[in-house]
Amino acid sequence: MTRLFFDCDTGIDDSLALLYLLARTDIDLVGIASTGGNVPVDVVATNNLSWLEVCGRTDIPVHIGAAQPLVAQMRTTEETHGPLGVGYAELPLPTTPASHVDAADAWIDATRKHPGALIGLVTGPLTSLATAIRRDPALPTRLARLVIMGGAFRAHGNTTPTTEWNIAVDPEAAAEVFGAFGRDGAAPPIVCPLDLTEQIALTPDHLVRLAAAAGSTPLECPDPADEPGLRSVADNVVIRHVVDALRFYLEFHQAHDEGYIAHLHDPFAALVALAPDIVTTIPARVDVELVGTLTRGMTVADERAMTGEPNARIATATDVDAVFDELLERIADLARTTATSASGQA
Ligand code: BDR
Ligand code: CA
Repeated sequence: MTRLFFDCDTGIDDSLALLYLLARTDIDLVGIASTGGNVPVDVVATNNLSWLEVCGRTDIPVHIGAAQPLVAQMRTTEETHGPLGVGYAELPLPTTPASHVDAADAWIDATRKHPGALIGLVTGPLTSLATAIRRDPALPTRLARLVIMGGAFRAHGNTTPTTEWNIAVDPEAAAEVFGAFGRDGAAPPIVCPLDLTEQIALTPDHLVRLAAAAGSTPLECPDPADEPGLRSVADNVVIRHVVDALRFYLEFHQAHDEGYIAHLHDPFAALVALAPDIVTTIPARVDVELVGTLTRGMTVADERAMTGEPNARIATATDVDAVFDELLERIADLARTTATSASGQA
């Protein structure tokens, strides 16, 4: 069975990524590292625990990472993801505690338990993974595959003109992680940058499709003319929370002149982690600018091996329709089975 360790800063799109992973009953999600980013680390952990509660999967351990980036000052983005990181969704408070093993040690333990057989997925800042690699420099050699959502190469940044959020929050961590791959037998990670993840643009129609496939009623189609913050009345608990979360994300993107859409950066990376053939990649040596007054946190790709051997594979193209078909179908399955099982919590 495929084993995956997920590190995230949940977050609206991290939430969808988590639901997709939970929907993949053919994989073993061995643990979830909570890293501060979109919201503070304790809120990230609570969100992860709450989603597990909703889906009746409290057997999966949730680990808490560092409260601060390695060097930078912590910052969060509640304006993007809502005051608690899940948009307008009101998730139940978790009844199970986080693990006493911290996120970095959990990375180490998971790779030691499944050497050469574990897929790592990071959809938040790289603080926890960098901390794990500081403690155990051989960790990268034990991963079967690593997929990172982060960076912007030929696209504008979404945090500053040149930087993407996950890298901008902890540039030193990102630089350390990229520096640890592409040598000593550590397979270069697949990097899913904004260039590609911004093509995974969810529209209200996708939510209607999702709800219909889950058998949820009534079918709700968020509309830009709706009163902001309108709450879902869907009878399916997963769909209700997803619509409430995504409505906030749709409104955020619209307020930033992107249209009434929502970029599904993290669910896309989750899919790539399990189906890497869905992307075309190019090898490159990726490094992170740590000094520039205008460019600190910028990801720089050397595609011509001018500065060294490739340490990453940058995802450059995908089949967007196939991505949505897979994500919506699987999450709908999860929503349907959660509703019919006794463990689905309101
Ligand atoms: C990334 O930043 C976060 O806000 C999202 O969750 C995603 O991981 C996109 O730049
Ligand atoms: Ca994220």
